[in-house]
Amino acid sequence: MQRRSFLKTAAMGSLAWCAGPATDRLSAAAGVAASQGGSSEAGIEILPGEAIGVIRPDIYGHFVEHLGAVVYDGIWVGEQSKVPNIGGLRKALVEALRAVRPGVIRWPGGCFADSYNWRDGIGPRSQRPRRGSFWADDSAWPPGCPDGPWKYETNEFGTNEFVRFCRLVGAQPYFAANVRSLSPKDFYEWIDYCNAPAGATTLAASRAATGDRDPLGVRNWGVGNESWGCGGNFRPEEYAAEYRRFIEWVPRFGQNLTFIASGPNGGDLEWTRRFFAAMRERRSLGSVAGWALHHYSWNVSGGRTQDWSKGKGAAVGYPVSEWFELLNEANRMETLIADHWAAMGEADPQHRVKLVVDEWGAWYKPGSQVDPTHLFGQQSTMRDAVLAGLTLDTFNRHVDKVMMANVAQLVNTLHALFLAHEDQFLVTPTYHVFAMHQAHQGGRAVRSVFTAPPASYAENGRSVALPGLAGSASLHDRRLVLTVTNPDPQQAREAAITVRDAKPGGVRVTTLVAGSIQTVNTFDRPDAIRPVEKTLAATPGGRLTHTFPAASVTKLEMDLT
Ligand code: AHR
Repeated sequence: MQRRSFLKTAAMGSLAWCAGPATDRLSAAAGVAASQGGSSEAGIEILPGEAIGVIRPDIYGHFVEHLGAVVYDGIWVGEQSKVPNIGGLRKALVEALRAVRPGVIRWPGGCFADSYNWRDGIGPRSQRPRRGSFWADDSAWPPGCPDGPWKYETNEFGTNEFVRFCRLVGAQPYFAANVRSLSPKDFYEWIDYCNAPAGATTLAASRAATGDRDPLGVRNWGVGNESWGCGGNFRPEEYAAEYRRFIEWVPRFGQNLTFIASGPNGGDLEWTRRFFAAMRERRSLGSVAGWALHHYSWNVSGGRTQDWSKGKGAAVGYPVSEWFELLNEANRMETLIADHWAAMGEADPQHRVKLVVDEWGAWYKPGSQVDPTHLFGQQSTMRDAVLAGLTLDTFNRHVDKVMMANVAQLVNTLHALFLAHEDQFLVTPTYHVFAMHQAHQGGRAVRSVFTAPPASYAENGRSVALPGLAGSASLHDRRLVLTVTNPDPQQAREAAITVRDAKPGGVRVTTLVAGSIQTVNTFDRPDAIRPVEKTLAATPGGRLTHTFPAASVTKLEMDLT
Protein backbone atom coordinates (compact mmCIF):
# COMPACT_ATOMS: atom_id res chain seq x y z
CA MET A 1 0.00 0.00 0.00
CA GLN A 2 1.32 3.44 -0.87
CA ARG A 3 1.98 6.18 1.67
CA ARG A 4 -1.02 8.26 0.53
CA SER A 5 -3.54 5.49 1.10
CA PHE A 6 -1.99 4.62 4.47
CA LEU A 7 -2.47 8.18 5.63
CA LYS A 8 -6.04 8.22 4.36
CA THR A 9 -6.78 5.04 6.25
CA ALA A 10 -5.32 6.47 9.43
CA ALA A 11 -7.43 9.58 9.16
CA MET A 12 -10.71 7.70 8.74
CA GLY A 13 -13.05 7.35 11.68
CA SER A 14 -14.20 4.03 13.04
CA LEU A 15 -17.41 3.93 11.03
CA ALA A 16 -15.54 4.09 7.77
CA TRP A 17 -13.61 0.99 8.74
CA CYS A 18 -16.36 -1.35 9.72
CA ALA A 19 -18.76 -2.98 7.36
CA GLY A 20 -21.46 -2.56 10.04
CA PRO A 21 -21.69 -3.40 13.71
CA ALA A 22 -20.17 -6.78 14.37
CA THR A 23 -23.42 -7.96 15.89
CA ASP A 24 -25.10 -7.78 12.48
CA ARG A 25 -22.70 -10.26 11.01
CA LEU A 26 -22.62 -12.35 14.16
CA SER A 27 -26.34 -13.11 14.29
CA ALA A 28 -26.33 -13.93 10.59
CA ALA A 29 -23.36 -16.22 11.04
CA ALA A 30 -23.58 -18.40 14.03
CA GLY A 31 -26.65 -19.01 16.10
CA VAL A 32 -25.74 -16.81 19.08
CA ALA A 33 -28.88 -15.06 20.35
CA ALA A 34 -28.69 -11.26 20.41
CA SER A 35 -29.49 -9.60 23.71
CA GLN A 36 -29.31 -6.04 24.92
CA GLY A 37 -30.26 -6.95 28.46
CA GLY A 38 -28.27 -8.75 31.12
CA SER A 39 -28.38 -12.33 32.22
CA SER A 40 -28.33 -12.77 36.00
CA GLU A 41 -26.79 -16.24 35.95
CA ALA A 42 -23.37 -14.84 36.81
CA GLY A 43 -21.69 -14.34 40.16
CA ILE A 44 -18.38 -13.00 41.41
CA GLU A 45 -17.23 -13.93 44.89
CA ILE A 46 -14.15 -12.26 46.40
CA LEU A 47 -12.29 -14.11 49.13
CA PRO A 48 -10.21 -11.47 51.02
CA GLY A 49 -8.89 -14.17 53.37
CA GLU A 50 -7.18 -16.04 50.51
CA ALA A 51 -4.16 -13.96 49.54
CA ILE A 52 -2.06 -14.92 46.52
CA GLY A 53 0.75 -12.36 46.85
CA VAL A 54 1.62 -8.71 46.36
CA ILE A 55 0.99 -7.26 42.89
CA ARG A 56 4.39 -5.95 41.83
CA PRO A 57 4.42 -2.98 39.45
CA ASP A 58 6.77 -5.06 37.28
CA ILE A 59 3.92 -7.14 35.90
CA TYR A 60 2.64 -3.86 34.41
CA GLY A 61 5.78 -3.58 32.29
CA HIS A 62 6.48 -2.48 28.72
CA PHE A 63 8.76 -3.31 25.84
CA VAL A 64 10.71 -0.92 23.61
CA GLU A 65 12.53 -2.40 20.63
CA HIS A 66 14.38 -0.63 17.83
CA LEU A 67 11.76 -1.85 15.38
CA GLY A 68 9.70 0.24 12.95
CA ALA A 69 8.59 3.40 14.73
CA VAL A 70 8.80 2.38 18.39
CA VAL A 71 11.91 4.47 19.04
CA TYR A 72 12.21 6.86 16.07
CA ASP A 73 8.90 8.73 15.54
CA GLY A 74 7.45 7.03 18.64
CA ILE A 75 9.60 7.90 21.65
CA TRP A 76 12.54 9.82 20.22
CA VAL A 77 11.78 12.92 18.17
CA GLY A 78 15.08 14.70 18.80
CA GLU A 79 15.91 17.85 20.71
CA GLN A 80 15.48 20.10 17.66
CA SER A 81 12.05 18.72 16.78
CA LYS A 82 8.95 20.92 16.56
CA VAL A 83 7.18 18.10 18.41
CA PRO A 84 7.10 19.06 22.10
CA ASN A 85 9.87 17.04 23.74
CA ILE A 86 11.90 16.64 26.91
CA GLY A 87 15.52 16.37 25.82
CA GLY A 88 14.43 14.72 22.55
CA LEU A 89 11.81 12.42 24.12
CA ARG A 90 8.21 12.91 23.00
CA LYS A 91 6.63 14.87 25.86
CA ALA A 92 3.02 13.70 25.38
CA LEU A 93 4.13 10.07 25.54
CA VAL A 94 6.30 10.62 28.61
CA GLU A 95 3.42 12.24 30.47
CA ALA A 96 0.80 9.69 29.47
CA LEU A 97 3.07 6.75 30.27
CA ARG A 98 4.07 8.14 33.67
CA ALA A 99 0.35 8.38 34.52
CA VAL A 100 -0.11 4.59 34.23
CA ARG A 101 2.87 3.83 36.49
CA PRO A 102 4.96 1.51 34.30
CA GLY A 103 6.93 -0.82 36.52
CA VAL A 104 9.71 -1.74 34.15
CA ILE A 105 10.65 -1.24 30.48
CA ARG A 106 12.57 -3.79 28.42
CA TRP A 107 15.03 -2.57 25.74
CA PRO A 108 16.55 -2.69 23.04
CA GLY A 109 14.84 -5.85 21.73
CA GLY A 110 13.52 -8.39 20.84
CA CYS A 111 15.44 -9.79 17.90
CA PHE A 112 17.21 -6.43 17.52
CA ALA A 113 19.02 -7.02 20.81
CA ASP A 114 21.12 -9.89 19.47
CA SER A 115 22.56 -7.67 16.70
CA TYR A 116 23.03 -4.58 18.86
CA ASN A 117 26.37 -3.28 20.05
CA TRP A 118 25.72 -1.01 23.03
CA ARG A 119 28.95 0.90 22.26
CA ASP A 120 27.28 2.34 19.13
CA GLY A 121 24.78 4.19 21.31
CA ILE A 122 27.09 6.12 23.64
CA GLY A 123 29.19 9.26 23.32
CA PRO A 124 28.32 12.43 21.39
CA ARG A 125 25.26 11.79 19.24
CA SER A 126 26.74 13.40 16.15
CA GLN A 127 29.59 10.89 16.23
CA ARG A 128 27.60 7.73 16.70
CA PRO A 129 27.76 5.21 13.84
CA ARG A 130 24.88 4.47 11.50
CA ARG A 131 24.19 0.73 11.05
CA GLY A 132 21.77 -1.46 9.17
CA SER A 133 18.95 -2.48 11.53
CA PHE A 134 18.13 -6.13 12.22
CA TRP A 135 14.71 -5.30 10.72
CA ALA A 136 15.96 -3.57 7.54
CA ASP A 137 15.42 -6.58 5.29
CA ASP A 138 12.08 -7.70 6.68
CA SER A 139 9.55 -8.80 4.06
CA ALA A 140 6.74 -6.92 5.81
CA TRP A 141 7.91 -3.46 4.72
CA PRO A 142 5.39 -2.11 2.21
CA PRO A 143 6.75 -1.51 -1.31
CA GLY A 144 8.25 1.94 -1.66
CA CYS A 145 8.67 2.49 2.04
CA PRO A 146 11.29 5.22 2.44
CA ASP A 147 14.61 4.66 4.16
CA GLY A 148 15.24 6.21 7.56
CA PRO A 149 16.33 5.29 11.07
CA TRP A 150 13.75 2.46 11.04
CA LYS A 151 16.03 0.71 8.50
CA TYR A 152 19.39 2.38 9.16
CA GLU A 153 19.90 2.74 12.88
CA THR A 154 21.29 6.18 13.77
CA ASN A 155 21.99 5.22 17.38
CA GLU A 156 20.74 8.62 18.56
CA PHE A 157 18.79 6.76 21.21
CA GLY A 158 21.19 4.64 23.25
CA THR A 159 21.82 3.53 26.81
CA ASN A 160 21.80 6.98 28.45
CA GLU A 161 18.73 8.16 26.51
CA PHE A 162 16.83 5.01 27.40
CA VAL A 163 17.64 5.25 31.10
CA ARG A 164 16.69 8.94 31.06
CA PHE A 165 13.36 7.94 29.51
CA CYS A 166 12.81 5.31 32.23
CA ARG A 167 13.54 7.85 34.94
CA LEU A 168 11.14 10.39 33.46
CA VAL A 169 8.30 7.86 33.42
CA GLY A 170 9.19 6.28 36.77
CA ALA A 171 10.12 2.80 35.47
CA GLN A 172 13.07 0.49 36.08
CA PRO A 173 15.19 -0.34 32.99
CA TYR A 174 15.47 -3.98 31.88
CA PHE A 175 18.23 -4.56 29.32
CA ALA A 176 18.39 -7.47 26.88
CA ALA A 177 22.02 -8.43 26.23
CA ASN A 178 23.37 -9.59 22.90
CA VAL A 179 24.28 -13.30 23.15
CA ARG A 180 24.26 -14.20 19.46
CA SER A 181 26.82 -11.72 18.14
CA LEU A 182 28.73 -10.30 21.13
CA SER A 183 30.82 -11.95 23.82
CA PRO A 184 30.48 -12.23 27.62
CA LYS A 185 33.25 -9.63 27.87
CA ASP A 186 31.09 -7.13 25.98
CA PHE A 187 28.32 -7.92 28.43
CA TYR A 188 30.57 -7.33 31.46
CA GLU A 189 31.61 -4.02 29.94
CA TRP A 190 28.02 -2.90 29.39
CA ILE A 191 27.38 -3.60 33.08
CA ASP A 192 30.58 -1.68 33.90
CA TYR A 193 29.44 1.25 31.74
CA CYS A 194 26.04 1.31 33.46
CA ASN A 195 26.88 0.50 37.04
CA ALA A 196 30.52 1.22 37.93
CA PRO A 197 30.84 3.96 40.58
CA ALA A 198 31.50 7.49 39.31
CA GLY A 199 35.13 7.90 38.29
CA ALA A 200 36.01 4.30 39.14
CA THR A 201 36.59 2.86 35.66
CA THR A 202 37.36 4.04 32.16
CA LEU A 203 33.83 3.12 31.13
CA ALA A 204 32.37 5.08 34.04
CA ALA A 205 34.28 8.06 32.63
CA SER A 206 32.74 7.42 29.17
CA ARG A 207 29.34 7.35 30.85
CA ALA A 208 30.04 10.67 32.50
CA ALA A 209 31.10 12.10 29.14
CA THR A 210 27.74 11.07 27.71
CA GLY A 211 25.99 12.96 30.51
CA ASP A 212 25.63 10.60 33.45
CA ARG A 213 28.32 10.90 36.08
CA ASP A 214 26.53 8.68 38.59
CA PRO A 215 25.79 5.00 37.98
CA LEU A 216 22.67 4.27 35.97
CA GLY A 217 21.82 1.49 38.41
CA VAL A 218 20.56 -1.07 35.89
CA ARG A 219 19.49 -4.14 37.87
CA ASN A 220 17.52 -6.24 35.37
CA TRP A 221 19.51 -8.04 32.66
CA GLY A 222 18.09 -10.43 30.10
CA VAL A 223 20.63 -12.85 28.69
CA GLY A 224 19.68 -12.96 25.00
CA ASN A 225 16.25 -13.02 23.41
CA GLU A 226 14.39 -15.93 21.84
CA SER A 227 17.58 -17.94 21.85
CA TRP A 228 15.65 -20.79 20.22
CA GLY A 229 15.16 -18.51 17.14
CA CYS A 230 16.54 -15.09 16.16
CA GLY A 231 18.72 -15.09 19.27
CA GLY A 232 21.05 -17.79 17.94
CA ASN A 233 18.91 -20.79 17.00
CA PHE A 234 20.42 -22.70 19.93
CA ARG A 235 19.45 -26.02 21.42
CA PRO A 236 18.39 -25.60 25.06
CA GLU A 237 21.63 -27.23 26.26
CA GLU A 238 23.72 -24.97 24.03
CA TYR A 239 21.90 -21.90 25.29
CA ALA A 240 22.36 -23.06 28.90
CA ALA A 241 26.13 -23.18 28.26
CA GLU A 242 26.05 -19.68 26.74
CA TYR A 243 23.98 -18.41 29.64
CA ARG A 244 26.56 -19.67 32.13
CA ARG A 245 29.42 -18.11 30.17
CA PHE A 246 27.61 -14.78 30.36
CA ILE A 247 26.63 -14.70 34.01
CA GLU A 248 29.15 -16.79 36.00
CA TRP A 249 31.57 -14.38 37.70
CA VAL A 250 29.96 -11.37 36.10
CA PRO A 251 31.13 -8.06 37.66
CA ARG A 252 28.41 -6.62 39.87
CA PHE A 253 29.88 -3.34 41.14
CA GLY A 254 28.10 -3.88 44.44
CA GLN A 255 24.67 -4.06 42.79
CA ASN A 256 22.07 -6.71 43.28
CA LEU A 257 21.58 -7.91 39.70
CA THR A 258 18.62 -9.88 38.38
CA PHE A 259 19.36 -12.22 35.48
CA ILE A 260 16.59 -13.39 33.19
CA ALA A 261 17.13 -16.36 30.89
CA SER A 262 15.59 -16.60 27.44
CA GLY A 263 12.68 -18.98 27.82
CA PRO A 264 10.25 -20.77 25.54
CA ASN A 265 8.16 -19.85 22.57
CA GLY A 266 4.56 -20.30 23.78
CA GLY A 267 3.88 -23.89 24.79
CA ASP A 268 7.36 -25.32 24.10
CA LEU A 269 7.73 -27.24 27.36
CA GLU A 270 10.69 -29.13 25.94
CA TRP A 271 12.76 -25.91 25.85
CA THR A 272 11.90 -25.29 29.51
CA ARG A 273 12.61 -28.84 30.69
CA ARG A 274 15.91 -29.21 28.84
CA PHE A 275 17.30 -25.79 29.88
CA PHE A 276 16.39 -26.40 33.52
CA ALA A 277 17.84 -29.92 33.45
CA ALA A 278 21.11 -28.64 31.89
CA MET A 279 21.39 -25.87 34.47
CA ARG A 280 20.64 -28.18 37.39
CA GLU A 281 23.27 -30.63 36.20
CA ARG A 282 25.88 -27.81 36.40
CA ARG A 283 24.42 -26.58 39.73
CA SER A 284 23.79 -23.20 38.11
CA LEU A 285 20.05 -22.76 38.50
CA GLY A 286 20.64 -20.38 41.42
CA SER A 287 21.92 -17.79 38.97
CA VAL A 288 18.57 -17.57 37.17
CA ALA A 289 16.01 -15.20 38.68
CA GLY A 290 13.52 -15.16 35.83
CA TRP A 291 12.52 -17.41 32.94
CA ALA A 292 11.23 -15.43 29.96
CA LEU A 293 8.13 -16.75 28.21
CA HIS A 294 6.80 -15.16 25.00
CA HIS A 295 3.21 -15.52 23.87
CA TYR A 296 1.67 -13.64 20.95
CA SER A 297 -1.93 -14.10 19.87
CA TRP A 298 -2.87 -14.15 16.22
CA ASN A 299 -5.58 -15.56 14.03
CA VAL A 300 -4.53 -18.78 12.36
CA SER A 301 -7.54 -19.32 10.11
CA GLY A 302 -5.24 -18.51 7.17
CA GLY A 303 -2.77 -21.20 8.29
CA ARG A 304 0.42 -20.87 10.32
CA THR A 305 3.61 -19.64 8.66
CA GLN A 306 7.06 -18.58 9.74
CA ASP A 307 6.69 -15.28 7.87
CA TRP A 308 6.17 -12.42 10.36
CA SER A 309 3.47 -10.76 8.27
CA LYS A 310 1.53 -13.71 6.83
CA GLY A 311 -1.07 -16.10 8.23
CA LYS A 312 -2.57 -13.49 10.52
CA GLY A 313 -5.96 -11.81 10.72
CA ALA A 314 -6.84 -8.13 10.31
CA ALA A 315 -6.63 -5.63 13.16
CA VAL A 316 -9.86 -3.93 12.11
CA GLY A 317 -12.84 -5.07 10.05
CA TYR A 318 -12.42 -8.64 11.26
CA PRO A 319 -15.21 -11.23 11.37
CA VAL A 320 -16.60 -12.18 14.77
CA SER A 321 -15.10 -15.66 14.41
CA GLU A 322 -11.68 -13.94 14.66
CA TRP A 323 -12.71 -12.06 17.79
CA PHE A 324 -13.32 -15.40 19.48
CA GLU A 325 -10.30 -17.12 17.95
CA LEU A 326 -7.89 -14.37 18.98
CA LEU A 327 -9.15 -14.01 22.54
CA ASN A 328 -9.14 -17.77 22.96
CA GLU A 329 -5.50 -17.76 21.88
CA ALA A 330 -4.75 -14.96 24.36
CA ASN A 331 -6.51 -16.81 27.14
CA ARG A 332 -4.00 -19.66 26.76
CA MET A 333 -1.79 -17.51 29.00
CA GLU A 334 -3.39 -19.20 32.01
CA THR A 335 -2.40 -22.68 30.79
CA LEU A 336 1.03 -21.57 29.59
CA ILE A 337 1.84 -20.21 33.05
CA ALA A 338 0.58 -23.37 34.76
CA ASP A 339 2.34 -25.76 32.36
CA HIS A 340 5.73 -24.02 32.35
CA TRP A 341 5.53 -23.56 36.12
CA ALA A 342 5.01 -27.30 36.52
CA ALA A 343 7.88 -28.08 34.11
CA MET A 344 10.18 -25.65 35.95
CA GLY A 345 9.25 -27.30 39.23
CA GLU A 346 10.66 -30.65 38.07
CA ALA A 347 14.22 -29.25 38.38
CA ASP A 348 13.43 -26.41 40.77
CA PRO A 349 10.95 -27.79 43.31
CA GLN A 350 11.39 -24.75 45.59
CA HIS A 351 10.40 -22.55 42.64
CA ARG A 352 13.19 -20.06 43.17
CA VAL A 353 13.03 -19.19 39.48
CA LYS A 354 9.93 -17.16 38.55
CA LEU A 355 8.30 -16.53 35.20
CA VAL A 356 8.86 -13.34 33.21
CA VAL A 357 6.39 -12.91 30.33
CA ASP A 358 8.49 -10.31 28.57
CA GLU A 359 6.60 -10.30 25.26
CA TRP A 360 2.83 -10.66 25.02
CA GLY A 361 0.04 -9.16 22.93
CA ALA A 362 -1.93 -9.34 19.69
CA TRP A 363 -0.26 -9.50 16.30
CA TYR A 364 -2.17 -8.72 13.09
CA LYS A 365 -1.31 -8.60 9.42
CA PRO A 366 -0.11 -5.25 8.02
CA GLY A 367 -2.60 -2.73 6.67
CA SER A 368 -3.84 -0.65 9.59
CA GLN A 369 -0.59 1.07 10.60
CA VAL A 370 -0.67 4.88 10.66
CA ASP A 371 2.38 5.26 8.41
CA PRO A 372 4.23 2.86 6.07
CA THR A 373 7.41 3.28 8.10
CA HIS A 374 5.68 1.72 11.12
CA LEU A 375 6.72 -1.91 10.66
CA PHE A 376 4.28 -4.21 12.51
CA GLY A 377 2.15 -1.15 13.31
CA GLN A 378 -1.52 -1.90 13.86
CA GLN A 379 -4.73 -0.29 15.00
CA SER A 380 -6.45 -1.25 18.22
CA THR A 381 -10.09 -2.05 18.95
CA MET A 382 -11.99 -3.28 21.99
CA ARG A 383 -10.68 -6.75 21.10
CA ASP A 384 -7.21 -5.55 22.11
CA ALA A 385 -8.56 -3.90 25.25
CA VAL A 386 -10.34 -7.11 26.25
CA LEU A 387 -7.18 -9.10 25.48
CA ALA A 388 -5.18 -6.75 27.73
CA GLY A 389 -7.80 -7.02 30.50
CA LEU A 390 -7.85 -10.82 30.33
CA THR A 391 -4.05 -10.99 30.37
CA LEU A 392 -3.40 -8.49 33.18
CA ASP A 393 -6.03 -10.23 35.29
CA THR A 394 -4.32 -13.56 34.61
CA PHE A 395 -1.01 -12.10 35.83
CA ASN A 396 -2.71 -10.73 38.96
CA ARG A 397 -4.08 -14.18 39.70
CA HIS A 398 -0.56 -15.64 39.34
CA VAL A 399 1.59 -13.08 41.15
CA ASP A 400 3.14 -15.96 43.06
CA LYS A 401 4.59 -17.28 39.77
CA VAL A 402 4.97 -14.28 37.42
CA MET A 403 7.51 -11.70 38.61
CA MET A 404 7.46 -9.45 35.54
CA ALA A 405 5.57 -9.00 32.26
CA ASN A 406 6.04 -6.68 29.29
CA VAL A 407 3.39 -5.96 26.70
CA ALA A 408 4.74 -5.85 23.13
CA GLN A 409 5.24 -3.08 22.30
CA LEU A 410 4.96 0.40 23.80
CA VAL A 411 4.19 2.58 20.80
CA ASN A 412 3.40 2.15 17.07
CA THR A 413 4.13 -1.58 17.02
CA LEU A 414 1.89 -4.57 17.72
CA HIS A 415 -0.23 -4.28 20.89
CA ALA A 416 0.70 -0.65 21.50
CA LEU A 417 -0.55 1.76 24.17
CA PHE A 418 0.18 4.71 21.90
CA LEU A 419 0.14 5.64 18.24
CA ALA A 420 2.31 8.58 17.22
CA HIS A 421 3.41 10.07 13.93
CA GLU A 422 5.24 13.38 13.63
CA ASP A 423 3.18 15.77 15.81
CA GLN A 424 0.15 13.47 16.07
CA PHE A 425 -0.41 11.32 19.12
CA LEU A 426 -3.16 9.21 20.64
CA VAL A 427 -3.73 6.63 23.32
CA THR A 428 -5.26 3.29 22.33
CA PRO A 429 -7.96 1.32 24.18
CA THR A 430 -5.15 -0.82 25.60
CA TYR A 431 -3.72 2.28 27.28
CA HIS A 432 -7.03 2.78 29.09
CA VAL A 433 -6.92 -0.80 30.37
CA PHE A 434 -3.44 -0.23 31.80
CA ALA A 435 -4.72 3.02 33.35
CA MET A 436 -7.59 1.16 35.01
CA HIS A 437 -5.59 -1.86 36.14
CA GLN A 438 -2.74 0.15 37.65
CA ALA A 439 -5.03 0.56 40.68
CA HIS A 440 -4.04 -3.03 41.55
CA GLN A 441 -0.33 -2.20 41.92
CA GLY A 442 1.04 -2.68 45.40
CA GLY A 443 -2.13 -4.41 46.57
CA ARG A 444 -2.51 -7.97 47.81
CA ALA A 445 -4.02 -10.18 45.10
CA VAL A 446 -6.81 -12.25 46.62
CA ARG A 447 -8.67 -15.19 45.19
CA SER A 448 -11.93 -14.56 43.38
CA VAL A 449 -14.43 -17.01 41.94
CA PHE A 450 -16.23 -16.10 38.73
CA THR A 451 -19.29 -18.10 37.74
CA ALA A 452 -20.89 -17.33 34.39
CA PRO A 453 -22.11 -19.22 31.34
CA PRO A 454 -19.36 -19.20 28.69
CA ALA A 455 -19.34 -16.86 25.74
CA SER A 456 -19.38 -19.27 22.86
CA TYR A 457 -19.24 -19.26 19.11
CA ALA A 458 -19.66 -22.04 16.60
CA GLU A 459 -19.32 -22.08 12.87
CA ASN A 460 -18.63 -24.82 10.31
CA GLY A 461 -18.03 -27.44 12.99
CA ARG A 462 -15.51 -25.29 14.90
CA SER A 463 -16.44 -23.88 18.27
CA VAL A 464 -14.77 -21.61 20.81
CA ALA A 465 -15.85 -20.99 24.39
CA LEU A 466 -14.48 -18.02 26.31
CA PRO A 467 -15.13 -17.44 30.01
CA GLY A 468 -18.44 -15.60 30.47
CA LEU A 469 -16.70 -13.16 32.81
CA ALA A 470 -13.09 -13.11 34.02
CA GLY A 471 -11.13 -10.89 36.34
CA SER A 472 -9.03 -10.38 39.44
CA ALA A 473 -9.19 -8.65 42.81
CA SER A 474 -6.73 -6.96 45.12
CA LEU A 475 -6.89 -5.53 48.63
CA HIS A 476 -5.33 -2.24 49.68
CA ASP A 477 -6.07 -2.09 53.43
CA ARG A 478 -9.88 -1.90 53.40
CA ARG A 479 -10.16 -0.83 49.76
CA LEU A 480 -10.92 -3.52 47.23
CA VAL A 481 -10.08 -3.23 43.53
CA LEU A 482 -11.92 -5.60 41.21
CA THR A 483 -11.35 -5.70 37.46
CA VAL A 484 -13.69 -7.64 35.22
CA THR A 485 -13.68 -8.42 31.50
CA ASN A 486 -16.74 -9.43 29.57
CA PRO A 487 -15.32 -11.08 26.43
CA ASP A 488 -18.72 -11.74 24.87
CA PRO A 489 -18.96 -9.38 21.87
CA GLN A 490 -22.76 -9.34 22.09
CA GLN A 491 -24.15 -10.31 25.47
CA ALA A 492 -24.13 -7.98 28.46
CA ARG A 493 -23.84 -9.91 31.70
CA GLU A 494 -25.37 -9.10 35.05
CA ALA A 495 -23.49 -10.50 38.01
CA ALA A 496 -24.08 -10.60 41.75
CA ILE A 497 -20.86 -9.53 43.49
CA THR A 498 -20.18 -10.65 47.03
CA VAL A 499 -17.19 -10.19 49.32
CA ARG A 500 -16.83 -12.94 51.88
CA ASP A 501 -17.00 -11.69 55.50
CA ALA A 502 -17.21 -8.04 54.40
CA LYS A 503 -19.68 -5.53 53.01
CA PRO A 504 -18.89 -3.32 50.01
CA GLY A 505 -19.50 0.38 50.66
CA GLY A 506 -19.71 3.11 48.01
CA VAL A 507 -18.57 1.71 44.70
CA ARG A 508 -16.76 3.67 41.98
CA VAL A 509 -17.12 2.05 38.56
CA THR A 510 -14.97 2.73 35.51
CA THR A 511 -16.10 1.11 32.26
CA LEU A 512 -14.34 0.85 28.92
CA VAL A 513 -16.70 -0.05 26.08
CA ALA A 514 -17.17 1.08 22.47
CA GLY A 515 -20.07 1.62 20.08
CA SER A 516 -18.84 -1.28 17.96
CA ILE A 517 -16.14 -3.88 18.28
CA GLN A 518 -14.58 -2.31 15.18
CA THR A 519 -14.26 1.22 16.65
CA VAL A 520 -10.74 2.63 16.88
CA ASN A 521 -9.21 5.86 18.16
CA THR A 522 -7.81 7.92 15.31
CA PHE A 523 -5.81 11.14 15.21
CA ASP A 524 -9.09 12.85 14.19
CA ARG A 525 -11.19 11.10 16.85
CA PRO A 526 -8.70 10.23 19.60
CA ASP A 527 -11.43 9.73 22.20
CA ALA A 528 -13.74 7.44 20.25
CA ILE A 529 -12.99 4.85 22.94
CA ARG A 530 -12.38 6.15 26.43
CA PRO A 531 -13.51 5.04 29.87
CA VAL A 532 -16.57 6.41 31.64
CA GLU A 533 -16.92 6.65 35.40
CA LYS A 534 -19.89 6.50 37.70
CA THR A 535 -20.67 5.87 41.34
CA LEU A 536 -23.00 3.18 42.60
CA ALA A 537 -24.99 3.70 45.77
CA ALA A 538 -23.85 1.88 48.91
CA THR A 539 -25.43 -1.55 49.20
CA PRO A 540 -27.30 -2.22 52.41
CA GLY A 541 -26.87 -5.89 53.31
CA GLY A 542 -23.68 -6.14 51.28
CA ARG A 543 -25.30 -7.25 48.03
CA LEU A 544 -24.09 -5.68 44.88
CA THR A 545 -25.30 -6.33 41.36
CA HIS A 546 -23.69 -4.91 38.27
CA THR A 547 -24.25 -5.36 34.57
CA PHE A 548 -21.04 -5.70 32.56
CA PRO A 549 -21.61 -4.50 28.97
CA ALA A 550 -20.73 -6.77 26.06
CA ALA A 551 -17.09 -6.48 24.95
CA SER A 552 -16.05 -4.41 27.94
CA VAL A 553 -13.43 -3.98 30.64
CA THR A 554 -14.61 -2.68 34.03
CA LYS A 555 -12.93 -1.62 37.24
CA LEU A 556 -14.85 -1.46 40.51
CA GLU A 557 -13.26 0.14 43.55
CA MET A 558 -15.05 -0.18 46.87
CA ASP A 559 -14.43 0.42 50.55
CA LEU A 560 -15.09 -2.61 52.69
CA THR A 561 -16.71 -2.52 56.11
O1 AHR B 1 8.05 -8.01 19.07
C1 AHR B 1 8.50 -8.35 17.79
C2 AHR B 1 9.40 -9.57 17.78
O2 AHR B 1 8.67 -10.67 18.20
C3 AHR B 1 10.56 -9.53 18.74
O3 AHR B 1 11.65 -8.85 18.22
C4 AHR B 1 10.88 -10.97 18.94
O4 AHR B 1 11.48 -11.23 20.19
C5 AHR B 1 9.52 -11.64 18.81
O5 AHR B 1 9.56 -12.77 18.03
